[in-house]
Amino acid sequence: MLTKEYVSKIKANGNGDLKKLIEMRNDDKSIVFILENIGYLPDDFDDSWVIKLLNSKNKKIRLNAVKTLGKVKNENNIPILLHIAKTDNSTDVRREAVSSIGRMRSKKAIPSLIEMLSDDDPKIISQAIRGLLVFKGDKKIDEKLKYLINHENETIQAVIRKEYFNNNRILKDKLKHSESYDYLKNKIVLGDVRDILKLIPDESFHLTFTSPPYYNARDYSIYPSYKAYLKFLTEVFKLTYDKTKEGRFLIVNTSPVIVPRISRQHSSKRYPIPFDIHYFLVKIGWEFIDDIIWVKPEASVKNRNAGFLQHRKPLAYKPNARTEYLMVYRKQTDKLIDWNIRQYDWETVKESKVKDGYETSNVWEIDPRFDKVHSAVFPVELCKRVIEYYSFKGDLVFDPFAGSGTLGRTAKYLNRFFFLIEKEPKYFEYMKSFFKKNDSTLFNEKESEFLTIDEFKVIIK
Ligand SMILES: C[S@@+](CC[C@H](N)C(=O)[O-])C[C@H]1O[C@@H](n2cnc3c(N)ncnc32)[C@H](O)[C@@H]1O
Repeated sequence: MLTKEYVSKIKANGNGDLKKLIEMRNDDKSIVFILENIGYLPDDFDDSWVIKLLNSKNKKIRLNAVKTLGKVKNENNIPILLHIAKTDNSTDVRREAVSSIGRMRSKKAIPSLIEMLSDDDPKIISQAIRGLLVFKGDKKIDEKLKYLINHENETIQAVIRKEYFNNNRILKDKLKHSESYDYLKNKIVLGDVRDILKLIPDESFHLTFTSPPYYNARDYSIYPSYKAYLKFLTEVFKLTYDKTKEGRFLIVNTSPVIVPRISRQHSSKRYPIPFDIHYFLVKIGWEFIDDIIWVKPEASVKNRNAGFLQHRKPLAYKPNARTEYLMVYRKQTDKLIDWNIRQYDWETVKESKVKDGYETSNVWEIDPRFDKVHSAVFPVELCKRVIEYYSFKGDLVFDPFAGSGTLGRTAKYLNRFFFLIEKEPKYFEYMKSFFKKNDSTLFNEKESEFLTIDEFKVIIK
């Protein structure tokens, strides 16, 4: 029986015996087994019998033959491998051929690898990039690779950006990732979010969770058009992007809204806000991470079913909308989440660990909260989950559309700092009733402070 040990033993006898073994066991399964278990090969290995296997009809044999040639590091095989890379009908074999050329780490491989940068398949190009990066610093190669920043494929762009354009801007008096500016901690500022954000240094916030104003659905949100509304939100989330720390999160709570019909002769119009704003967020640079569905009890939402319940006529069906979206985005970075976590000390990570009983799915069943003054407040539980799952203790959590300030209060309760902005004096005053004077705690020693934009300008100088 063919075993790994047997293949090793035959290999030790020299090339001739291996070749004979392949000729003897010429069924596809045995050949694949031998090639898969051939292991390390000496530089004087006679690979002529391997080259013959490149013509096999069996893809697995071709794939393993190409891999074996890569191990031999025989520069004479580069043209053969290039031919396979360009012509084989299997992407896996083509990719392996490029990888084998790269693995030779030979200057003679450079022209072939450069040729493969023009392939149609991004996976092949990525493999060629890998092979060429061995020679990073060589002017000609750097130039060729840098040019790929314009490639249409986003993965290729990301690799090139990381290798050549990762200008870790050193901001003036840049804070450590885990820290935030004292003058932003536990502040509530009255004014238009766009004016206030422009005053704030880049990379200030660890997390943003917000529920933007609706489009023409409530009294505080009148925009000239849906286009203007989306433009407004895009502007706010672009500024938020700049003010967010590297690799940190933005979570936007929205749902489609309905603008009622103006008369019986017209129909009402539904605007799919989460789906429309997504396009602009990604364009800004926010990387889409997750969609969480917030589900409310049916009894708590507007009943749209009354008519249908009576007539049951198809096409006129109107489901009760029990869901809202929490769209999760991350600020673009080449760094993994692990990097973000490593920016905190052991104690903070330990204290921020999420306790048992956390929500394991992306369907969050939470009762809505009704408020006598503000018509669209967050339930505390919603804020609690977002803060616990997406921030560490001591982080600065931001809500550009604070309303009654639910996010800020919950952040404080969970030993995070907050920064809130609200445009309407009515809600700004209302928040004061929630944030008591002298509300500093042992951990959160910063008292909550209410400021007009002019007062804020003074402390930010
Ligand atoms: C949906 S509510 C947020 C409610 C909040 N999540 C809470 O728990 O109370 C949106 C808020 O954004 C405010 N707003 C609208 N346009 C704004 C702007 N340009 N700048 C700052 N706040 C604004 C509105 O006054 C409203 O209170």
